[in-house]
Amino acid sequence: MAVIAILGYGTVGSGVVEVMRSNKELIESKAEQPVNIKYVLDLRDFPGDPVQDIITHNFDDILNDDQVELVVEVMGGINPAYSFVKSALLSGKSVCTSNKELVAAHGAELMRIAKEKNVNFLFEASVGGGIPIIRPINRSITSDRIEAVTGILNGTTNYMLTKMDAEGIDYDEVLKDAQEKGYAERDPAADVEGHDACRKIAILASLATEKTVSYEDIYTEGITNISTTDMLYAKMLGGSVKLLGKAGFENGRVWARVAPAVVLANNPLSMVNDVFNAILLKGNMLGDVMFYGRGAGKLPTASAVVSDIVDAVRHKNVNLGIKWSEDKQELMDIDDVNVSKLVRVEYSDKDKAAACVKRLFGTENILETEEAFDEFAFVTDCAKESDINDRLEGLLNCDGINGILNTIRMEG
Ligand code: HSE
Repeated sequence: MAVIAILGYGTVGSGVVEVMRSNKELIESKAEQPVNIKYVLDLRDFPGDPVQDIITHNFDDILNDDQVELVVEVMGGINPAYSFVKSALLSGKSVCTSNKELVAAHGAELMRIAKEKNVNFLFEASVGGGIPIIRPINRSITSDRIEAVTGILNGTTNYMLTKMDAEGIDYDEVLKDAQEKGYAERDPAADVEGHDACRKIAILASLATEKTVSYEDIYTEGITNISTTDMLYAKMLGGSVKLLGKAGFENGRVWARVAPAVVLANNPLSMVNDVFNAILLKGNMLGDVMFYGRGAGKLPTASAVVSDIVDAVRHKNVNLGIKWSEDKQELMDIDDVNVSKLVRVEYSDKDKAAACVKRLFGTENILETEEAFDEFAFVTDCAKESDINDRLEGLLNCDGINGILNTIRMEG
């Protein structure tokens, strides 16, 4: 029998208990033994909930109990999760976590400790909620060099962008709705400013490079500047606006960024709506492969955590050898990466403004909507971001142009 403890009885923790109870027989058959939750650690009490019988407020009860072979960390945040997880591993207990902040900040160190102690540190739920993506990168796509990873990695913002686009619902109202559904982070800035997606692309890029891609080095832009007018132009191009986490790996050079993008209809990511997430991988032999599913929410995330529990229980005293070292992976300057951008221009003289766009960007194709006055949009050629930005600076000095209202990268 495997004895486990769960740290945190919030959305994901209560989901783990629910999944374990609902699918008990199936899970124990896969784990090839009974799995018993002996403790749930939380600061709170839960009178009336059967979990109250196994609630503890003291982590030492778990740490000092030799029967506990596996600790499930679903508290979120760095403190005290990091110290709890580290001491659990050092005492020879495996750990499964859904905590992307913890994995992005300390994953390599925790994996090293797990290896030294011949236990496991597993984190399937940290990226893409219920979507299997960590295990496929680590254990399935082992015959390919990964050339690119592009993901819709945040359920809250995808939910918000979908609703704003399809139903014209106001930003604040949609955010409140996402919070009520349990998708959003405690601090919604983590979602809307792109920090959550940044942690997730850092994890995926680290797995792809087998080194540590530091989330602090990743250029990150959220969705707070996206308006319904941007969405109208995206629609005219046959696309929609999505928050993408993207990393590229070419000729030994690596780059990563999080930013909104106009995703065109020929890209399978354009069909990913609501709370769904998807990760599109490009392998040098495999070509494109996409992983799709619910990226947030209680039961999908808990399902991924429980899949790790099964894996850890089945591999007691066998380290699964996730390849991700503490060596730092340097990233290319984002200015050197090729992009194309949708640009919205405010004009005082449309003809002069269009002539300037033609001179600097070589295009006469301008997009206009009846819902926005004194502005048009165009799509730039594909060039180094620094070159595009230099030419946008040049645009600001043109006669007839009042300003640039927004720019959004294009994703074909
Ligand atoms: N706030 C996150 C999201 C939760 O919306 O995707 C899952 O990591």
